[in-house]
This record gives sequence, structure tokens and C-alpha cells, in this order.
Amino acid sequence: MRIVLIGPPGAGKGTQARVLAERLSIPAISTGDLFRAHVAEGTALGLRAREYMETGALVPDEVTTAMTAARLAEEDAASGFLLDGFPRTVRQAELLEQTLTAQSIALDRVLAFDVPDDHVVQRLASRRVCGDCGRILHADPVDGSEAHYCQNCGGALRRRDDDREETVRKRLDVYTAQTVPLLDWYTTRALLTRVPATGLIEEVTRRALAAVLPSILPELSVSADGR
Ligand code: AP5
Ligand code: MG
Ligand code: ZN
Repeated sequence: MRIVLIGPPGAGKGTQARVLAERLSIPAISTGDLFRAHVAEGTALGLRAREYMETGALVPDEVTTAMTAARLAEEDAASGFLLDGFPRTVRQAELLEQTLTAQSIALDRVLAFDVPDDHVVQRLASRRVCGDCGRILHADPVDGSEAHYCQNCGGALRRRDDDREETVRKRLDVYTAQTVPLLDWYTTRALLTRVPATGLIEEVTRRALAAVLPSILPELSVSADGR
């Protein structure tokens, strides 16, 4: 099963990618996470990517595509993957299609998460990320208390550098200008399903699974038959 998640910043791509990847037994691959790992390690790629990421701009297509193709060539992605945040330009989608076609494989489904801009700004203002395990959480806005440690591993929580409101607004503009055209591109290939991504996290997971279910059913019936 090969799935792509598209959506504006804060749509819940990373949150859903973790759950869906576990349910579908495929690796979740986030280009944002790959770039942040390079930045943290201070690699040449990281130094280059950082210039774009800190302003909310996209890293150039060729750089992003080369990094993603290398990740997709790893063994765990051989029989399926879930891409979180790639492709996000038509050029990236064309390059991905070329790479997959050369291996006689294709995407099964592209899910586009829909979330209004005001939700995005609110969600990202309270997003916290675990510095140890990478789990995505949020500061508790209900009782006004602030979570400082990860519920999963106890690691210290931190804010992402690009979650300042002005950078979030820039990322939203970039999404509209450079990524939204991709939705039509995948619609013409009959791959796109739009998924409303507001409401409970579990509800969004259910909608996403329902959207990929028709592609999974043949695999499920094969394993149910034991063949
Ligand atoms: P990336 O890391 O991919 O950032 P993004 O696309 O802006 O998306 P986010 O990670 O901010 O949001 P998300 O959709 O994953 O939401 P999350 O699950 O965390 O990319 C960062 C940068 O890297 C880019 O700006 C660019 O520079 C570069 N880059 C990456 N890919 C690239 C590419 N292909 N080409 C070029 N450059 C690239 O959730 C957000 C918050 O909401 C969390 O607190 C979560 O707990 C909460 N939440 C989730 N679901 C719900 C819900 N249903 N209800 C309420 N709260 C929820
Ligand atoms: Mg993310
Ligand atoms: Zn953790």
C-alpha cells in the first residue's frame, strides 16, 4: 500500500501518519522530519534546508526529491509507504511518478486533509513535539496547564522553530500557492480523496482508513485466504 498525505501545516498529517502507518504496517516518511534530522546533525543538506524552513518556504524540488528517493530506496519501504508532506509541488509529483513508474509501481491513494486556516493557527500555537521520541502533542488548552513532558517516553517537550504565527501564515500562503495545484493534478489521475480533518483525532483516522479501504481490501482478502 502506497499512500500520500497532503494538507496545510497543522492539518494533522504527522499525527495521522503515525497511527495509519502502524495500522497498515508500512513506514511513515515525513520530509519535514527528514529535513529536521539533517538540521539537527548539521549536515550540508541540513544547512541548506534550514534557510528555507525557517522562513516557511519550500526547500527546492530537486533537493527534496533526491532526499526522498534515497529514503524510498531503503528496504523497509519496498512493499509500501506512507508519505507525509511529499510531494508538495506538481514538479515533485512528476518526479515521484517517474521514480515509481521506473520500478513498475504506483501510488494507491492520495489523501488531502482539509482544515480551515484559523484551526491551523490555533493548533500550531499549542503544538509541542517530544525531543526524544518525536511524538506530536499539544499544550493542554482546556485547564490552562502546560504539558512539559512527553506522555509516551517522558522526554522534554519543545516548540518547533517554524510554529511562530508569522511563519505559520507564510507556510499557509505557500501551501495555497504551491501545493493546492497538486490537488487537481491528482484528481485527474483519479487518486485524490479529500478528508475533512477537523473533529476528534480518532474520527479523522476513521475517515482516512475508510478512504484507503477499497485499496486495502484485495490485500486483506488475500491474507484471509492464507494465499
Ligand atoms: P513539515 O514538517 O511537513 O510541516 P507542515 O507541512 O507545515 O506540517 P506540520 O508538520 O506543521 O503539520 P502536520 O500536518 O504534520 O500536523 P500535526 O500532526 O503536527 O515541513 C516543514 C518544512 O520542511 C516546510 O515548511 C518546508 O520548508 C520543508 N519541507 C517539508 N517537506 C517539503 C517538501 N515536500 N518540499 C519542500 N519543502 C519541504 O498536528 C498539528 C497540531 O494539531 C498538533 O499539536 C496535534 O496534536 C494537533 N492535532 C492533530 N489533529 C488534531 C485534531 N483532529 N484536532 C485537534 N488537534 C489536532
Ligand atoms: Mg508534520
Ligand atoms: Zn517522547
